[in-house]
Amino acid sequence: MRIHQYEKLWIVGAMILIVGFIVTITYGSVGLGITMIGDEEETIAPDELNDDEQFGEPRVEQVGENEYAAYVVAQTFIFQPDPIEIPANNEITFHVTSRDVIHGFYVPGTNINAMAIPGQVAELTVEFDEPGEHGLICHEYCGSGHHTMEGLIVVQPEDEFDLTELSAETPDTVTSGEQVQLNATVENGQLEPLETTVDAEIGDQTFQQNITVDGNSTQDVTFTAESTQLGVGEHDWTVTVDDYEETGSVEVVSNETAAAEGGEES
Ligand code: CUA
Repeated sequence: MRIHQYEKLWIVGAMILIVGFIVTITYGSVGLGITMIGDEEETIAPDELNDDEQFGEPRVEQVGENEYAAYVVAQTFIFQPDPIEIPANNEITFHVTSRDVIHGFYVPGTNINAMAIPGQVAELTVEFDEPGEHGLICHEYCGSGHHTMEGLIVVQPEDEFDLTELSAETPDTVTSGEQVQLNATVENGQLEPLETTVDAEIGDQTFQQNITVDGNSTQDVTFTAESTQLGVGEHDWTVTVDDYEETGSVEVVSNETAAAEGGEES
């Protein structure tokens, strides 16, 4: 069979086009690293969010070297946590779900765009090269406050980022003669142990203690002051760990006052 010269040209041309299409489609779906949110993702019942290990306390966690997971709950009309603080130049996987109705999870100017659907967990992995702040908006109509539903993503320089949390407390009042105990708790959400110093002040007394908090754990520190040395009255206290500070006050009441108040109550 003889094939005409032009016929051959058309066949070859058509072949090149077909191969070209296949290459383009394959590159578009695999080569660019864009992944779709599948329906085989994790599911979670919206009314069980509070009991969930991750979503019960929405937060950012370190899950590997240079890898973090951000658990985000959308609900009318806020995102939790807010702001979402993450380090630059690290892989961040957002796990997003909704407590009530369908919300959006969209960071303008980026490819972060997902629906937060009650019962489902959307996952998307991103990396920010530059520190900075990015607005986060809900772009699915979710009710009367939809237009106010926004959050903030704060990308911090990698070397300034930490997952340290400090909390501290004393009783409101201490009877003169008893000890004033200041309890501080330092939480380290990162995988590496945290070596740091806890500085505390109760009234005019100062304290200092070096601690090492293991990865993903907490450490309690107690500072004790003698109320007789502080004297009767209101005393401010401060606890400082790195850039974190907690303050409060404790009142030392005299024995007579304490007895009188105790008497009134009974
Ligand atoms: Cu949430 Cu719109």
